[in-house]
Amino acid sequence: MIGRKTLNIGVVGYGFMGRTHSNAFLQAPRFFDLPYQPVLKAVCARNSERLKSFANTWGYESAETDWRKLVERADIDLIDIASPNDTHAEIAIAAARAGKMVMCEKPLGRNAAEAKAMTEAVESANVANMVWYNYRRVPAVVLLKHLIDDGRLGRIFHYRAKFLQDWTISQDLPQGGEGLWRLDVSVAGSGVTGDLLAHTIDTAMWLNGPIAEVSAMTETFVKQRKHNLTGQVEPVGIDDASAFLCRFQNGSLATFEATRYARGHKALYTLEINGEHASAMWDLHDLHRIQFFDHRDEGQLRGWRSIHVTDSDHPYMRRWWVPGLQIGYEHTFIHQAADFLEALSEGKQAAPTFRDGLATDLVTDAVLESAKTRQWEAPCT
Ligand SMILES: NC(=O)c1ccc[n+]([C@@H]2O[C@H](COP(=O)([O-])OP(=O)(O)OC[C@H]3O[C@@H](n4cnc5c(N)ncnc54)[C@H](O)[C@@H]3O)[C@@H](O)[C@H]2O)c1
Repeated sequence: MIGRKTLNIGVVGYGFMGRTHSNAFLQAPRFFDLPYQPVLKAVCARNSERLKSFANTWGYESAETDWRKLVERADIDLIDIASPNDTHAEIAIAAARAGKMVMCEKPLGRNAAEAKAMTEAVESANVANMVWYNYRRVPAVVLLKHLIDDGRLGRIFHYRAKFLQDWTISQDLPQGGEGLWRLDVSVAGSGVTGDLLAHTIDTAMWLNGPIAEVSAMTETFVKQRKHNLTGQVEPVGIDDASAFLCRFQNGSLATFEATRYARGHKALYTLEINGEHASAMWDLHDLHRIQFFDHRDEGQLRGWRSIHVTDSDHPYMRRWWVPGLQIGYEHTFIHQAADFLEALSEGKQAAPTFRDGLATDLVTDAVLESAKTRQWEAPCT
């Protein structure tokens, strides 16, 4: 604490992401030399009993049941949005107008129009902003980025990504309400396109540059589900599965697939990139490794290397334990919080910014549009 400026944080949402973010703000200054000491000033959600218990568990100084009150508070420097997608735009725009820094969960908006308004709000208020596309902070994925940027793969020909889950196969699963808002299109904006493909698109554009055009198909396998809030059986408006072909601006070709109907897969996010000299693969289920093949290796010894990304010269790893000991999912959020605070002290803006989040939403909009029109679509600029 000594010598560090305090940064007062107000987090909206105490669910899955509320926990990862609270943990990240607590741990970041313990493992990174940061100029700021994040203070868990307030947490906001609507159920006051559960809110109190969450605030006690994580050491929040106070709690609010209305995000508007949180945004108005003079003692809050940064609003962190970890609530469902339909809340992102309204909270982020109000926070920016109140002069707060804003961090927001992905997808930035339910669609690109919302994301654009949010981006304009933070840019015109000139406040620091960031979207929690946390897979950019997996050390193995960062290593992959360094290899690509150093030219080790050469010209890129192919990019391949999948994000597979299996938790919505049952027809009896209702839609809407707590825990199941992802199945309600009015809250989520879309199904797996905005939820899962958005992650794969953000990583892909970070690694391989902008996407030029897409050709997509989507499917809703279960067409009606009981809605938890109305008690009525209602049409399902989300896409259960989504796949697309695309061309990147650098001329490489790609395939992307996401589904919640791949029995046996819980969160199988995999990516592969094939270049002129080398190929690399990464798998979230084995997140501390990359598989790497370099054609320029000596012939008889040429083969796929499995690199355990835990050495002290690997990205972020000198901050953690000793070489050979791996870290996990929660650390990606810690890295992101640390990078945000470090950039802030240097007067810089850490990526992914809201503008980067908007770029992903423009691609997901194009994917959904192409699935409808059955035509190739270019993300709007
Ligand atoms: N970066 C990632 O890998 C990742 C992973 C999961 C979720 N997400 C994103 O994080 C966001 C939250 O997802 P989650 O899984 O944590 O959801 P969740 O359902 O676990 O939690 C949502 C929280 O928001 C609160 N909430 C809902 N409406 C609110 C309102 N009007 N005011 C204040 N609080 C409100 C709920 O009470 C709950 O605490 C979503 O945008 C989701 O897409 C990102």
